Amino acid sequence: MMTTLTENVFSVGVQDWDRRLFDELIPLPHGTSYNAYLIKGSEKTALIDTVDPAKTGMLMDHLVRRGADKIDYIISNHAEQDHSGSIPDVLLMYPDAKVVTNPKCKSMLMDLLHMDADAFIEVKDGQTLSLGNKTLQFFYTPWVHWPETMCTWLQEDRILFSCDFFGSHQASGFLYVQDEHKVLEAAKRYYGEIMMPFRNSIRGNLKKLEPLQIKTIAPSHGPVYDRPALILDAYRNWVDEDKHKNEVIIAYVSMHGSTRGMVEYFVDALIERGVGVKQINLITVDLGELVIDLVDAATVIVAAPTVLVGAHPAAIYCAALLGALRPKTRFAGIIGSYGWGSKMVEQITGLLGNLKLELFDPVLAKGLAAEETFSALDGLADKILAKHRQLRLV
Ligand code: FEO
Repeated sequence: MMTTLTENVFSVGVQDWDRRLFDELIPLPHGTSYNAYLIKGSEKTALIDTVDPAKTGMLMDHLVRRGADKIDYIISNHAEQDHSGSIPDVLLMYPDAKVVTNPKCKSMLMDLLHMDADAFIEVKDGQTLSLGNKTLQFFYTPWVHWPETMCTWLQEDRILFSCDFFGSHQASGFLYVQDEHKVLEAAKRYYGEIMMPFRNSIRGNLKKLEPLQIKTIAPSHGPVYDRPALILDAYRNWVDEDKHKNEVIIAYVSMHGSTRGMVEYFVDALIERGVGVKQINLITVDLGELVIDLVDAATVIVAAPTVLVGAHPAAIYCAALLGALRPKTRFAGIIGSYGWGSKMVEQITGLLGNLKLELFDPVLAKGLAAEETFSALDGLADKILAKHRQLRLV
């Protein structure tokens, strides 16, 4: 893999082709990478971020191969261990190096890695650090996706080292983006899974970075963007509260086919009305796929049967995920079937409590759906069409 971004700026990170789960929660269908960058200035050398501790050996190999006989500064953009975990080992190999970061990140690194306070140089928002003929500038960009996150700007080469911000979980044999569609899908999944709840902060961060004439975005996961507009425009759309797709996501689970029958009828009803729809089986789906759709769908419907009198656990998990990720979804509804009683609506709406959305009246059938249930589903499809029209999506 080509590893030179520009003169004396090198990618020294590691591809993790086999990793399939992050935080024991997030599926990684295409693996991931932990990108780190070595910048050799005329006077000082800096390493931007490190790698997951499981891959420390490979980072060390890459540093040796790059002829990094000294490192003066280890820039830590983010304290999470997939980027900071190798810092103690890098410090063992380069004992004169100092860790450069903001005070919040320093405090978190001291908690997470048990590092000493004197290992650090603290930098303020906007502060610069000279490497001789290259200058680093630090921009605090909090909540992408932790409170301490920052970006490092290499002024002369106009490269933004953004860490998780703009990243995508995928291993790649290429330094730069090859297939824009594929990278955007991975970046959207990544945004949905960890960035989406912090849209307000991200909007502010995007604005803050606007004055920079960015030539290259080098994140710490996934390929480097040599066309920054690709990911900047995508982020602007994703965080825009007024930009939605004419799409209804129906996240469903069915035990004996009653809920499935309602879902299939409802899907046809929406299609007939010109409303986009996606039917997602909660039992078999990779939840990352669901999250991608939640980033901009206008409407979400949770469809489930009851287990005893509560919603099926898969539907509860889905509702909890919605409540945690707080998508910009405008409308939501609940449909399903029950045997002898149901607390499904109270349970699911309780979990959606902190979402600013309009909830449609639920459509529930006792047992197998009959004629009145199907007409209620038609009524719900009509309401969704009207709402999507109000948003000028149809
Ligand atoms: Fe890639 Fe938040 O760590």
